[in-house]
Amino acid sequence: MALTMEAVLQRARPVMPVLVIEDVGLAVDLAAALQAGGVQVLEVTLRTHRALEAVSAISEAFPDLLVGAGTLIHTEQFLEARDAGAHFVVSPGCTQRLAAAAEDAGLPYLPGVMTPSEVLQALEYGYRSLKLFPANGNASVKMLKSLKGPFTGIRFCPTGGITPDNLAGFLRLPNVTCVGGTWIAPDNLIRARAWDQITQLAREAQLLGGDLERPT
Ligand code: 3PG
Repeated sequence: MALTMEAVLQRARPVMPVLVIEDVGLAVDLAAALQAGGVQVLEVTLRTHRALEAVSAISEAFPDLLVGAGTLIHTEQFLEARDAGAHFVVSPGCTQRLAAAAEDAGLPYLPGVMTPSEVLQALEYGYRSLKLFPANGNASVKMLKSLKGPFTGIRFCPTGGITPDNLAGFLRLPNVTCVGGTWIAPDNLIRARAWDQITQLAREAQLLGGDLERPT
C-alpha cells in the first residue's frame, strides 16, 4: 500500500526533527545520532546548498528511516526531491501550483497552513494532514483546539516555534499527530559534531512526548 502522509506523521510522533544541513559530509553521522535517540522520521530542509545530496546520503544509508525534503517553495523542487530519494515532501505554505507539483511527484505531501481559509484550500486540493506553520506557543494550541470543531478528521503537525517546554501542550491535542522542530539538532551542535548531545535531545523529546495519549 502506498505510504500516506498521516502514516508518516504517526511514525514520526512525537517529534519530526527539522534539519538544516550546511555540511553534507555530516549528514550520515547526524542521522545516526538521531536514530540512536529513537527518531524514525526526519525532514531535511532544502535551504542549504547541498541539501538534496544530504537527502540522498541519509536515505541510502538508513533504509529504516523515512526521509522528507522540506521547505519546498518552487515547483521543480518536488521532482528533485523525489529523485534524490525523499520519501515525503513538506512546504511552509501551499499554492495550486505546488499542490499540482506534489501530485506529479507522487510523494506524500505535507502542505503548510496558518488560517482556516488555508485549511479549506488544502482540503480542496485533497490534503488532510497539514503542517501548522509557524506555530506560536499557547496561541496556536488555542487555535488548534478551535479548528477541531469545523475541521473533523484534519490532522496537524505544528512546526516553527516548538520547544521542549511547549511540546506536550501540542501533542495532547487530538488533532495533532506530531510536531516538528529544529531544536533537536541545532546548528552549533551539528558543527561541533556533538552527536551524543543530539542523541540525548532526541531521547528527551521521545520521553516528553511518549507518555501522552495518542490522538483518536
Ligand atoms: C520549519 O521549517 O519547519 C521551521 O522553520 C522550524 O522551526 P523551528 O526552528 O522553530 O523548529
